[in-house]
Amino acid sequence: MKITVVGAGAVGASCAEYIALKNFASEVIILDIKEGLAEGKAMDLMQTASLNNFDTKIIGTTNDYSKTSASDICVITSGIPRKPGMTREELIGINAKIVSEVSSNLIHFSANTILIVVSNPMDSMTYLVHKKTGLSKNRIIGMGGALDSARFKFRIAEALNCPISDVDGIVIGGHSDKGMVPLISKATRNSIRISNFLSDEILENIKQETKIGGATLTKLLGTSAWYAPGAAVSSIVQSIACDQHKMFPCSALLNDEYGFSDLCIGVPVILGKNGIEKIIELDLDDSEYEHLKQSAESVKKTNSLLD
Ligand code: 2OP
Repeated sequence: MKITVVGAGAVGASCAEYIALKNFASEVIILDIKEGLAEGKAMDLMQTASLNNFDTKIIGTTNDYSKTSASDICVITSGIPRKPGMTREELIGINAKIVSEVSSNLIHFSANTILIVVSNPMDSMTYLVHKKTGLSKNRIIGMGGALDSARFKFRIAEALNCPISDVDGIVIGGHSDKGMVPLISKATRNSIRISNFLSDEILENIKQETKIGGATLTKLLGTSAWYAPGAAVSSIVQSIACDQHKMFPCSALLNDEYGFSDLCIGVPVILGKNGIEKIIELDLDDSEYEHLKQSAESVKKTNSLLD
């Protein structure tokens, strides 16, 4: 199993590290345009192998896409991260050019790969990759909802003062500060709805903290987060690589699912060796569906900025 990660920045390097630690890949290629950066991070990570007990071989390359040949899965993290106060959507001008070139280069050397898009604004970048590559729609996956759902579960466990392993929850919709739809009605603590334990005020606070989860960290860190994004990507990669058929909210190209078409937005999907094996249509209450509809309209508006 060969995985390529484009972008040796904090997110890409974290993603490569978590994939290696899970020890299911034979090879991880890290590629960056900055001279020596990918080679250095790959070597540093390989020097943890005996300490962290993984056999995955991590190789870095400076912009040599031939090294990515025949990759089973390719992760696109390249592009600029947002600064405090910026929205993800403001990155579209620069990142669209980068993602367009990167996806074409990857497909040239790995015609049958599965592409996972992380670069922001992620839903629009995922849509761009569909348009650019023409890959079958099950082979292009946007990573956002898995990260947002992890933040959602963190906030729920924090409010309940309980282990995160007792909590389940899902966030659908656009990966954007205003567009996310945390599904409070479906969130549980040991199969019991969290509304049994928490007041409406606290539930609303959990929703808001989840939606601005990325911005909160960007304000604290001065740049976008990387540990949780990297962990979210590695979990998605593992479900595909190991044909686990796990369910994650991912940005998928819709063709009338939830009543929307010709856009990529976060919906629950089953991930296996073919990438998106199935899109799951949840029963949403009126308010949840209205928020998803507004989110879809916002994503389409951002898509209209693509050339
Ligand atoms: C985040 O929410 C980088 O969009 C990513 O942290």
